[in-house]
Amino acid sequence: MEASTATKFTGKIIESSDDVTPAVLEAMAQADNPRLREIAASFVRHMHAFAREVRLTEAEYDIGIDFLNRIGKATHDSHNEGILFADAIGFSTLVCLLNNGKAGATETTAALLGPFWRANSPRTENGGSIVRSPTPGPELFVACEIVDAASKPLANVEVDVWQSSPVGLYENQDDTQTDMNLRGKFTTDAGGRFSFRSVKPAGYPVPADGPVGEMLRAQNRHPYRPAHIHFLGFKPGYKTLITQVSVDDAEHLESDVVFGVTRALVGDYRRRDHGELPAVDVRAPWYTLNYRFVMQTGEAVLPKPPIK
Ligand code: BEZ
Ligand code: FE
Repeated sequence: MEASTATKFTGKIIESSDDVTPAVLEAMAQADNPRLREIAASFVRHMHAFAREVRLTEAEYDIGIDFLNRIGKATHDSHNEGILFADAIGFSTLVCLLNNGKAGATETTAALLGPFWRANSPRTENGGSIVRSPTPGPELFVACEIVDAASKPLANVEVDVWQSSPVGLYENQDDTQTDMNLRGKFTTDAGGRFSFRSVKPAGYPVPADGPVGEMLRAQNRHPYRPAHIHFLGFKPGYKTLITQVSVDDAEHLESDVVFGVTRALVGDYRRRDHGELPAVDVRAPWYTLNYRFVMQTGEAVLPKPPIK
C-alpha cells in the first residue's frame, strides 16, 4: 500500500484570528487523497481571505448560511437550485471553459449543462421529430455533424437533444406538454450526422422564485437566457460533449443570465421563405439550423442528471 503523504496533525489552541487559517489547513492536511487535500486547502484559504477582505459581519454570515440552506431546500427531483446558483455566478461556464478548448486557449463547442437535462430521452431515428405533443411555433429542421479534432466524422455518437418550446418552457415546467416533448436521443450515422425536426425554441427566464431569483433581483439583473437548443454527445474514447447552440437573432444573446453564450455557439438559424419544402405538411416560412460539433478524445463520462 502507498505510504500516506498527509501530514501529522498536532493541533493548537486558537489564540487569535491569525491562528484560524493555519489551524484549519493543518487539520485538513490529514486527508489521504492528495487532490482532496489540494482542493480543500485552496477552498479554505480563499474563503478565509474572502471573509477578511470584505470584513464579513456576523449578520452577513447568517444571511450567507441561510442562502446556502435555502438553495438545498429548493432542490428536488424536478429542480436543481444548486446548479442554477453556480450558473448564475458564471461558475459553471468558467469550469467548462477551463476544462475544454485547451483551457480556454482555443475555441470550444462545449458549454454549461444547465439544470434541465434528463436521462432516458426517447430514442428517435435520424430525421425524426422531437415534437411529441401539439407545440405551435415556427417549424425548425436541424442537421448536425460531429467530427473529431482532425475533422474526421464520428459515427455512433449518442446525442441527447433538449430544448424549450416556442413559449420558452421545458416540458418538465409545462403541463400542456407531454412527457419528454422536445427531447430526443439520436445516433450519428457513418458520416457523423444526425438530424431532426422540431420547433424554434424561445428564450426564457431561469426559475426565479427561489434564492437565486432573490439574488438576481438584488443585483438588478434580468433572469433571461437567449433561445437555444442543448446537445450532449457521448461516445466511448471521447470526452462527453455538453453544449448548446443559441439562436443568432435571440434577445439577450449578449446578456445571458448564466453567461453561456460563446461566439462558437451562436447558430445560424436561417429563415426559409422559398425552395423545396422539407416535409409535406410544412408551409413557408420555416427555419433550418446546420451545425458542426467537434469532440476531443478523452474519457466518456455522463454527468449526473440534474433532474429525474
Ligand atoms: C438551460 O439552458 O437549460 C439553463 C441553464 C442554466 C440555468 C437555467 C437553465
Ligand atoms: Fe436551456
